[in-house]
Amino acid sequence: MSMEICVEVKDLSVETVNGFKILEGVSLSVSCGEFVVVSGPSGGGKSTLLKVLLGVKDVLEGFRIEGRVRVLGVDVVKNGFAKLFGKVGVVLQNPVNQVFSLTVEEEIAFPLENAGLDPEEIRKRVEEALEILGLKDLKRTPVNKLSMGQIQRVVLASVIALKPKILILDEPCAYLDPLTKKKFYEYIYMYWRSGGVTVIVVEHDLDYVLPYATKMLILNKKVVAYGDPLEVLNNVNAEDYGIKEPIYVKLCRYLRSSCRKAEDFIICLKKFICRSRE
Ligand SMILES: Nc1ncnc2c1ncn2[C@@H]1O[C@H](COP(=O)(O)OP(=O)(O)O)[C@@H](O)[C@H]1O
Ligand SMILES: [Mg+2]
Repeated sequence: MSMEICVEVKDLSVETVNGFKILEGVSLSVSCGEFVVVSGPSGGGKSTLLKVLLGVKDVLEGFRIEGRVRVLGVDVVKNGFAKLFGKVGVVLQNPVNQVFSLTVEEEIAFPLENAGLDPEEIRKRVEEALEILGLKDLKRTPVNKLSMGQIQRVVLASVIALKPKILILDEPCAYLDPLTKKKFYEYIYMYWRSGGVTVIVVEHDLDYVLPYATKMLILNKKVVAYGDPLEVLNNVNAEDYGIKEPIYVKLCRYLRSSCRKAEDFIICLKKFICRSRE
């Protein structure tokens, strides 16, 4: 894993013009290649933080923002997002707002055509994305004939076909059933594992993402905790923040409270979690 800094946030405070504080003194840094899970109570500022990273105009212009935010070295608060175009891929909560009404393959090709890639490269990337997301059989299907889960996969396919350096996902599975959700995260993991990409994902249900996370952030206006996921979960009672812990984390806490050799449990737990990815 490269130690190059991908996202750097320093003393970020965001408040509305009425003085309502959304984020207070948030500092964190994400190295390139990390898989960061962001959780916390509803209204804790997760989406706002992502919007600042994305240089969303409404947020930059509508709120009072203090502090420094750099994404791939670009000061997004000062300079906006334009320089990062094509380097950051985004999947939002409602996938329907992110598709036009083309066929699946056209939908994936469209942003690549806009980016001015040559047709041979576009064909290659579309095939690759269809393969990774298991959409090959649907490539000629119009997106308006697809289920929500399939549309979500199309959105993800079109994002990864752009080969972004950063993938930002804000509760990307809000409308998916548990099995589709599990598969969706497997696809994201496959793409992440293919290398070079940093993933930042907002997700409350840690059953789906803990096996992949290299860092975990709990956000509630302020940074409640940030770091190694198991250490974070060991130090913070995640359920107080509306986060769904996997049962094995609960079990581990219980065992640790009644056993001196705590390190052994952490090691066992890490092995257990790694195994659950395969
Ligand atoms: N455009 C806005 N104007 C005023 N308040 C806002 C606006 N957007 C978000 N907020 C407030 O900021 C807080 C954080 O919202 P948000 O970032 O969406 O949290 P989360 O994604 O963690 O649920 C909430 O209290 C929300 O009401
Ligand atoms: Mg949100």
